[in-house]
Formats: sequence, C-alpha cells, structure tokens
Amino acid sequence: MAITKKIILCGFGNVGRALARLIDAKQHDLERQYGLALKLLAVVDIDGAAVAEEMGLPPGRLTDFIEDGGAVEKFEGSGHPGLTAADLLAQRKADILVETTPTNLKDGEPARTHFMAAIDNGLDIIAANKGPLVLDYRRILERAREKGVQIRFSAATAAALPTLDVGRLCTAGARIEAIEGILNGTTNYILTRMAQEGCPYEDALQDAQRLGIAETDPTLDVEGLDTRNKIVLIANTLLALDLAPGEVETTGIAGVTPADITAAHEAGKVIKLLGSARLSENGPVVKVAPEALPADHPLAGVNLSEKGISYDTDTMGRITVTGGHSSPTGAAAAMLKDLIHLVKLGV
Ligand code: HSE
Repeated sequence: MAITKKIILCGFGNVGRALARLIDAKQHDLERQYGLALKLLAVVDIDGAAVAEEMGLPPGRLTDFIEDGGAVEKFEGSGHPGLTAADLLAQRKADILVETTPTNLKDGEPARTHFMAAIDNGLDIIAANKGPLVLDYRRILERAREKGVQIRFSAATAAALPTLDVGRLCTAGARIEAIEGILNGTTNYILTRMAQEGCPYEDALQDAQRLGIAETDPTLDVEGLDTRNKIVLIANTLLALDLAPGEVETTGIAGVTPADITAAHEAGKVIKLLGSARLSENGPVVKVAPEALPADHPLAGVNLSEKGISYDTDTMGRITVTGGHSSPTGAAAAMLKDLIHLVKLGV
C-alpha cells in the first residue's frame, strides 16, 4: 500500500511546471520503487489557485493548460481566483509545501509568508526559493524545529548537483574544513562559451536565458549573487555558521574580459566563478570571485551549465562532485529527490 503525500505547489513558472511534469511522468515508478503516491492538491500562482482535494490535480494536463496560455485560477472547474497559499496552508489538508516562487532577496516575499504558514500549520517544506533561507536561515530553521517541521532545499543549493546531501550525509563524522564550488550554471555557461568559442558575453547570456537556466533577473547570476546565496546556505548548513549574505565579499563575472580569459589560457589556467568557504583561526572566510584555476584543479574541467563542489575534510581528504547541470528539470529532480529522502528515508 503506497504512502500518499498531498502537495501544495506555490509558483508555476519554469521550475514548478517541470516538477508537475516529473510527477506526471514518474508516478508509476514512484509507486513501484518507493511505494509513494504524490497527489497535487493545489497549485498556487499570482492570481489564484487550482485545487482538487479528492483526486488531486492532473499534473500533465494542468501544465499543458498553462503552457497554452491558461492560468491556474481558470483550470477545468478547479480554479479559484484570488485564493492564496496562506489560505490553503491554513486549511491543513496537505502534507508538504513545495515552494518555487521567484527568489526575492529584499524581504523574501511571498515565499517567507508561505514558509511561516507551512511551519505554523505543520507542513514540511521543499524549497527551490532561496530568499527566506538566505535572509533568515537560523530563525526559520529554529521555528521549524520547534514545530517538528522538516525543510529541505537541495533545489536552492545547486539543484541537480548534490551539495548538501554529500556534505551532510556522505561526510558524516568527518569535519569539513573548506568548500569550493562552481555553483551557478549561467555564469559557468557564459565563461565556458567565451573561453571555448570566443562567444561574446551578451550572446552567451541570452542563450542561457533561452535555455531557462538564468534567474528571472539574470543580474543575480552574473553579479555573483546567486553563487553567494548558495554558498551562504551551504556554509551555514555544513559549517554551522549564521552568515548573512551582506557579509560575503562578492564579485561577479561582468569584469572578466576576453583578454583575461586568453591570458589565463596561455598560463594553462581556466577562469571559473567560485563560491568558497573556509574555516580559519580568525573565523570563517567566505567569498565569491572569478578565479583562474590550474588545469589539475578538480573543478577546472566543469563546463557549460554543469556545476561542481569540492570539500576538504579532516579524515576523508578531498571529495569532489561534478555534473548536475542547471535546468528547470534538474531543479525539479532535486525537489523530487528531497521529497523521497524525507518521506521514505527520513533524511
Ligand atoms: N540561475 C541558476 C543557475 C539556477 O544558473 O545555476 C538557479 O539557482
């Protein structure tokens, strides 16, 4: 007998729709492999919601409807104009909030309100949105702990590249002393195209936007802010810090010129945007900056929209994971993984 989990999905942009498509495509595998049935109780977007409490919404048909120009609040007799996530969460009919609204780093809204409502109503949270966690990590996690609510955010910490899972689970018992990561697919894509093809920066950025990799506001990518947000979340989680984003010295890739790339190449190096965190005697050193990596650096061969992370540990040496390219499907897959881990493995 499968366990059924009822989901409220907030935000139905590229990532939310990719998750709906995955749930649709994988429902039989999920039941067969994990004994897990995912029921999409509601999808909430800017102007309202679609809700189907008994049967769950048909994820594929709803996604087709939206991609054909529809709106969730007008979907097949299930639409509710003006219905908000907070209204739905307060009804306590679902088990899990999946948060995929666009990241807002000013006040974290609307995701912060969704997080708090989910915590207060006892729903676990799977988040792609980084805003509330980057701005208020400790307070949100403490409140969740008090209420016995679990929060997982692989999709906010480089998504298909397993960063937190490796750092939390695979290095258990070891001490992580330093972290280096290529954590943003858009900037890695741009730098790779510039280095390998001499592609102009603007053209590569437009291609990254066309591929749906870039943030809704791509300055978050190119100014290094997305990498900063990810290294803040990863360092806070794995190094037990309480960093605010403003504490991280951040330089993006706008200042990287074709001449810099050529000079690095001639020196046998390759320029990558790195987020790094290191524990020193004087406290943590966390920063984001383009760096020229020697060819034998474990992240030097990570290209295009792929990413990578490398941990220095006391007992396991250096552990590097690469791959997991940025894409809406990759982000959705990271959320599905979190969901399976949480429900079936309790991790
Ligand atoms: N824009 C991000 C990237 C994906 O390029 O990797 C979401 O974090």
